[in-house]
Amino acid sequence: MTPTANWVLPLFLCLLCAGFPSLHGADLCQPVGWRNFQCNEVASLQDLVDLGAENWHTLSIRNVQAELEVGSGETADHLGNLLDLDLTGAAPINLHTSGFAILPHLRYLNLSGCGLVNIRGNHFAPESALQRIDFSHNQLELLDRDFFGNLRKLIYANFSHNALQQCDMPHMPLLNRLELGHNRLVNATFGVCPQLQELILNDNQLAQLDVNAFRGLHGLLELQLSGNRLSSIGLETFQPLAQLRKLNLSQNALDALRPNVFGAVQNFVLHLQQLDLSGNRIRLLFDNQFRVLARLQMLDVSRNSIASLSPGHFVGLGSLRKLYLQYNAILEIKPATFAALLNLDTLDLSYNNLEFLEEQIFGSNTLPRMRRLNLNGNRLKQLHPLAFSSLPFLDYLKLGHNELKSLDVRMFAPMRRLQKLHLGHNLLEEINLDVLESLSSVQEILVDNNRLTFLAKVNVSFPNLKRVSIEGNPWQCPCFVKLQHWLATRDVVYLRDNTGYYKGERPLCIVTNVDYCIKNLQAVRRLGILGDFQGEQVEADAFDDDASAAQD
Ligand SMILES: *[C@@H]1O[C@H](CO)[C@@H](O)[C@H](O)[C@H]1NC(C)=O
Ligand SMILES: *[C@@H]1O[C@H](CO)[C@@H](O)[C@H](O)[C@H]1NC(C)=O
Ligand SMILES: *[C@@H]1O[C@H](CO)[C@@H](O)[C@H](O)[C@H]1NC(C)=O
Ligand SMILES: *[C@@H]1O[C@H](CO)[C@@H](O)[C@H](O)[C@H]1NC(C)=O
Ligand SMILES: *[C@@H]1O[C@H](CO)[C@@H](O)[C@H](O)[C@H]1NC(C)=O
Repeated sequence: MTPTANWVLPLFLCLLCAGFPSLHGADLCQPVGWRNFQCNEVASLQDLVDLGAENWHTLSIRNVQAELEVGSGETADHLGNLLDLDLTGAAPINLHTSGFAILPHLRYLNLSGCGLVNIRGNHFAPESALQRIDFSHNQLELLDRDFFGNLRKLIYANFSHNALQQCDMPHMPLLNRLELGHNRLVNATFGVCPQLQELILNDNQLAQLDVNAFRGLHGLLELQLSGNRLSSIGLETFQPLAQLRKLNLSQNALDALRPNVFGAVQNFVLHLQQLDLSGNRIRLLFDNQFRVLARLQMLDVSRNSIASLSPGHFVGLGSLRKLYLQYNAILEIKPATFAALLNLDTLDLSYNNLEFLEEQIFGSNTLPRMRRLNLNGNRLKQLHPLAFSSLPFLDYLKLGHNELKSLDVRMFAPMRRLQKLHLGHNLLEEINLDVLESLSSVQEILVDNNRLTFLAKVNVSFPNLKRVSIEGNPWQCPCFVKLQHWLATRDVVYLRDNTGYYKGERPLCIVTNVDYCIKNLQAVRRLGILGDFQGEQVEADAFDDDASAAQD
């Protein structure tokens, strides 16, 4: 830089200062949109006097060094038309007696993460216009009727991630969405809120609910109660919620859900579409438990302790599409248990204690929509050959991590649309030719970690195969070489890098004393090939689902 330039610049700036006294304000604040300003290093809203702020609609403040004091003797109405105020970039702020009272027209206020401990009703203008507030991520402890006194126009309010122990909300005529998640609420009461559609109460300490809990919330569509300590829910608690679509009770301490929590009236139907009861301590379901939930589409009872299922449990669930029962202790499924679920498309029974699947659990009539059935991780030793006879439209069947020794062609022959079949981690010694041939629509089959030594005539089976897993079997080497060759020529994906087999860490096949592939199980047994085979040690990853399951 030349000496001249050095000298000229300060002079130029100095001239500007003299001519436009408010230029300091231009440093402080920049327009970022129509009537929309961002200001930096503001110590008080009083600093914004004389900046023409009368016309501003939107203001956000960013402080790195300055500490913002709000409500300590601002006098001017220079922000009288402000509609939106975002102070999240100024955190932490100090809130004094008169708070935001000088902003009567404010509609949106974001104080998320501003370090606030206490906000009271008199921090807002009487009849405040506030519609949307975000007070999340502070240390608020109390919301009482006084707090809401001046905030009757609220539509959206977020108080999540505070330290609230109590919430007592009066009638709120316009409130639409209320977030109270991640607090310490032991109880909460709500006045009449006819417009409230979403009430988020997850991760609090609620232990009980009764009929008074939601009495005034007739318009509620979604109720989030997961991650509380609920152990009892009283008679008719959810009955006032005639519009409710989604109820989440997951991760609580319920050991049962009494049928009458939804009301005891005959012929009464709730609109509920999704009910999440996962991660509780439910040991048994009651007959007619869900009878009033004729519109229910998704029921999640996974991660409980249910041991037995019978048809009475699912009475009335004619609309149900997804039923999740994984990670229970199910030993027994009575005949026709799922027979009335005519709209079921997904059933997850994985990681239970099933040893045998009866013929009739799906009833004797076709379940026309049933597509996905997961039976992974049970102790299935045997399937009745007709267990799946009502499920001709299955496209995804998981039977991995069981103890199956053989398959019967009658299981698969009716499934003309089966695309994915998972049989990994079983005890299969042979897959008969007729079974292979019945799997003509299959695109993905997992047979890894069984006791297979050969596959009969693969080259005439699986016209649509795209992916297969084969490792972890005591393949005779001549059979394995053929199989590999066939898969390669057909462009079928079979290498799975994450298993160790294809890195040379474990043998892919067993050398026999003949140089051809013996396709006869008796002969294989006589040669003692299976006798030597240890199988894979069950490792930590043994229960991880395969790559294709991750796409589910
Ligand atoms: C408030 O500000 C935080 C942080 O910028 C942002 O994540 C949040 O979405 C805002 N809240 C609303 C209601 O816009
Ligand atoms: C608080 O909830 C509102 C919706 O009610 C949402 O827009 C906002 O992003 C939430 N705030 C944070 C910090 O997540
Ligand atoms: C809510 O819980 C608090 C703290 O346990 C208790 O003081 C208060 O009386 C309870 N309020 C209602 C309405 O049950
Ligand atoms: C219920 O809440 C839990 C925890 O927030 C969440 O993971 C789960 O997806 C919710 N269930 C439904 C059906 O939305
Ligand atoms: C299948 O393999 C057998 C024996 O290896 C062979 O005789 C037959 O021609 C093959 N068929 C096809 C369709 O490749």
